[in-house]
Amino acid sequence: MKIQKVGVVGCGLMGHGIVQVAAQGGCDVVVVEAEQGFLDKGLGRIEKSVTKLSQKLVEKGKKTEEQAQEMVTGTLGRITGSLDKADLADCDLVVDAIVENLEIKKALFAELGGICKPETVFASNTSSFPIGEMADASGRPDRFVGLHFFNPVQLMRLVEVVRTESTDEDVFAAARAFGEACGKTPVSCKDTPGFVVNRLLVPYMTQALLMLDRGDASREDIDAAMQLGCGHPMGPLTLTDYVGLDTTLFILQGWKERYPDEPAFEVPAILEKLVAEGKLGRKTGEGFYKWDGDKKA
Ligand code: CAA
Repeated sequence: MKIQKVGVVGCGLMGHGIVQVAAQGGCDVVVVEAEQGFLDKGLGRIEKSVTKLSQKLVEKGKKTEEQAQEMVTGTLGRITGSLDKADLADCDLVVDAIVENLEIKKALFAELGGICKPETVFASNTSSFPIGEMADASGRPDRFVGLHFFNPVQLMRLVEVVRTESTDEDVFAAARAFGEACGKTPVSCKDTPGFVVNRLLVPYMTQALLMLDRGDASREDIDAAMQLGCGHPMGPLTLTDYVGLDTTLFILQGWKERYPDEPAFEVPAILEKLVAEGKLGRKTGEGFYKWDGDKKA
């Protein structure tokens, strides 16, 4: 089974990156958004990003100016934007990158199950929800996987490929091959909360937030400690701003509800407070830090 035509639902923070790496990998991509404004914004980000990446390859001597231009026009030429899910009907794979809400995702897959050809493989980019529940809602649990990319998708080299007990072997192999075509290293995961990365990363971020809330150390010192002491590219508070405070809160709240006895899934009060104030991190210009676009203000 070869995945050539890919659908992506959602062109936001994660969706636009998935669209881009799939198109860079040679797939034809249809991306569906709810509103023209969201679509335009996502497609604009892709154009900026692929232009930047191609110029970096020229600077490193890995591409000529002409090849870089081909990378940009080729990638953009393989992407089609749409406001209609019916345009996903003949895709080989459809990936969900919509809001992190299980009921909304289940409703999406139930709808896609009625729209797409029987062979279409479905995947969710969820960070934390059970793949099996969405697989059941889609009506085709054997053709369903998790494909969890990392932010920023264009730069992070991992994709977690999640299988349930019902996932067909060929479907799983095709999903891994798609991840490789996107330039990523796939790791195989079972359908467990947070898979590998978030099961380790989110409790670590939580501990940093609790530490800040207790006043054990300043935000700058917590971040510097993990950058300089452990070689992390970003400290945990900067990373929470980068991931989005709302996304981090949704993940933790979902886990707390499902696994109330797991001490690692504590919801820090400071996170609830900042989200209630609309301070969601880099995307709103303020979280633990103030942001001016991609850089701290
Ligand atoms: N497309 C193209 N270029 C991009 C880009 C994008 N989307 N994002 C950044 N760049 C460029 C920058 O513009 C910059 O270019 P210049 O060198 O010309 O200025 C270059 O890439 C490097 O970026 P930075 O200067 O910001 O430097 P960096 O070395 O710190 O790299 C980073 C950035 C790769 C994001 C790095 O900081 C990093 O790895 N951070 C950790 C990110 C991480 O842990 N992500 C996982 C989050 S968890 C998650 O996603 C899962 C979940 O479900 C919650």
